[in-house]
Amino acid sequence: MANGVSRCLAVIAAAVLSLAAVIVGVTVAAAGRLGENANVPLVTQDGEQVRFYDDLIKGKIVAVNFIYTSCLFTCPLETARLAQVQRILGDRVGKDIFFYSISIDPEHDTPAVLKEYMQEFEVGPGWTFLTGDRDDIDLLAFRLGMTDDPSITSGPGPNLDGHTPHLLIANEKTGQWLRNSSTDNPGMLAHFLTDFVGGQTAVRPAVSSNAGAPLKLNAGQYLFAKECAACHTLGQGDKVGPDLKGVVARRDRDWLAHYIREPNVMRAAGDPVAVTLAARYKTVMPNLNVGDRDLNFLLDYLDAQSSSR
Ligand code: HEC
Repeated sequence: MANGVSRCLAVIAAAVLSLAAVIVGVTVAAAGRLGENANVPLVTQDGEQVRFYDDLIKGKIVAVNFIYTSCLFTCPLETARLAQVQRILGDRVGKDIFFYSISIDPEHDTPAVLKEYMQEFEVGPGWTFLTGDRDDIDLLAFRLGMTDDPSITSGPGPNLDGHTPHLLIANEKTGQWLRNSSTDNPGMLAHFLTDFVGGQTAVRPAVSSNAGAPLKLNAGQYLFAKECAACHTLGQGDKVGPDLKGVVARRDRDWLAHYIREPNVMRAAGDPVAVTLAARYKTVMPNLNVGDRDLNFLLDYLDAQSSSR
């Protein structure tokens, strides 16, 4: 019982924190038009030359993030999460809402590499992946406030792996923009794109009315929805990664614990299961930096899900 209560508190705390993060992240551009000072040339996954401000964001509602395709940490989750948002928004993406993912590893991420990456995540129309000259991309990231340090994007390495998953959501026409974690709840992100920057002045009750509603998620369920569900289902078949229903029966708990925390380390060490899985799926399971406590919540949740029908 005490355990249940503390889990609930953990969930409430996490929910309050993430809501606070969203509110703190809301910024309205005071002067100048977003991106006008960074009208840099970029190249799309189809090899088309474009300019950031003139061709990509002027007059549009946009979501922009910075990724690199060889990332073994949070970027694959960002991409999978945005793919969920794209599915929620349906054909509005490409009509009045546009998504842009810009590589911070342009030497590796050629148009062809970006195209293949898009296929892995089943990216639909209206979402463009971009590469270009490193100096231009660095300048863009800096001007958009996606990094405090213009040198942070130089070369894949510790800096890249530590890059914060921010998503910029903006309505260029009205000058409204906000920066958010791109690994947030996909429904919330879709809501921001349609309602907040999409024209209405206030955040609609869809978000705030949840505050008084009974909390239905336990900690494991909450974590799974936030960190895993963009790539995995429990009983609805394979997505980007394998269906995890029954995974506790196929693997032992120690293996699972190690794998969920450090799949990259296990692959590198040649763990036979990790290597076989990596060969079977196009994307690799990322290292999401799952902490001890969260790991136990997740394992308990996987256990409970596997024994339920
Ligand atoms: C960006 C997509 C992505 C995210 C996010 C993700 N995974 Fe995975 N996961 C994969 C892929 C892909 C595989 C298949 C192995 C591979 O290719 O490396 C996998 C494999 C696994 C496996 C092994 C399955 C088996 O059959 O043994 C487990 C367990 C797992 N993931 C748990 C999790 C958990 C728990 C989370 C959330 C904390 C999570 N994953 C988040 C993509 C993802």
